[in-house]
Amino acid sequence: MRKKGLLNAHQVIFFYSKTQDFKFNTLYTDYSATTNLDQILQDRERNENGKSVYKKDENGNVVLGKEKKGVPLSDVWEIPYLNPKAKERTGYPTQKPVLLLNQILKIVTDEGDLVVDPFCGSGTTCVSAKSLKRQFIGIDISKDAVELANSRLEEMVISESNLLNKGTNEYQEKTEKELAILQNINAFLFKEIVELTDF
Ligand SMILES: C[S@@+](CC[C@H](N)C(=O)[O-])C[C@H]1O[C@@H](n2cnc3c(N)ncnc32)[C@H](O)[C@@H]1O
Repeated sequence: MRKKGLLNAHQVIFFYSKTQDFKFNTLYTDYSATTNLDQILQDRERNENGKSVYKKDENGNVVLGKEKKGVPLSDVWEIPYLNPKAKERTGYPTQKPVLLLNQILKIVTDEGDLVVDPFCGSGTTCVSAKSLKRQFIGIDISKDAVELANSRLEEMVISESNLLNKGTNEYQEKTEKELAILQNINAFLFKEIVELTDF
């Protein structure tokens, strides 16, 4: 009999740090179709009549608000499961998507940092670390897993996600006037989602 309740559609990631002094980079996501322009152009000042107006630089260009890089990433991530036909899929039963590891590593590491995954399985963490120019060590008790991880590191395959790409397309729901303003002030974020076969 089917279990009563809602369809389980999320997993929880636990974050631990040995000390209070840990690295935590803020990532930004695209403005969504529902983000209003005021939120983006939030830096305001008073004009000579005391009226609140958008702040402009010395050349008369609108100054973007502090969040001009997009909306800070929330604690709800939409990272789809790997498509059964995805080239990235290795057949390893507990394989995680590289895009998930990319997001995690971008938050807690910078280029050149060392990432260790002591239960690396098919090597997803290592593939992600390599693609993001981090150093890495992968460990696994299973010889097959280590072999698979090594082969993935030789031929890097990272799937693109239409779901994640969709964020940019959602701009199409803005009016032409809004789009023109956003374009003019370079307020778009270009996502770096890649299909890589070689490094
Ligand atoms: C959940 S899987 C990791 C999957 C990985 N995230 C991926 O994307 O492929 C956990 C891994 O831990 C390994 N493992 C279990 N016990 C271990 C141990 N004592 N030492 C090292 N590896 C171990 C298993 O062989 C398995 O590959």
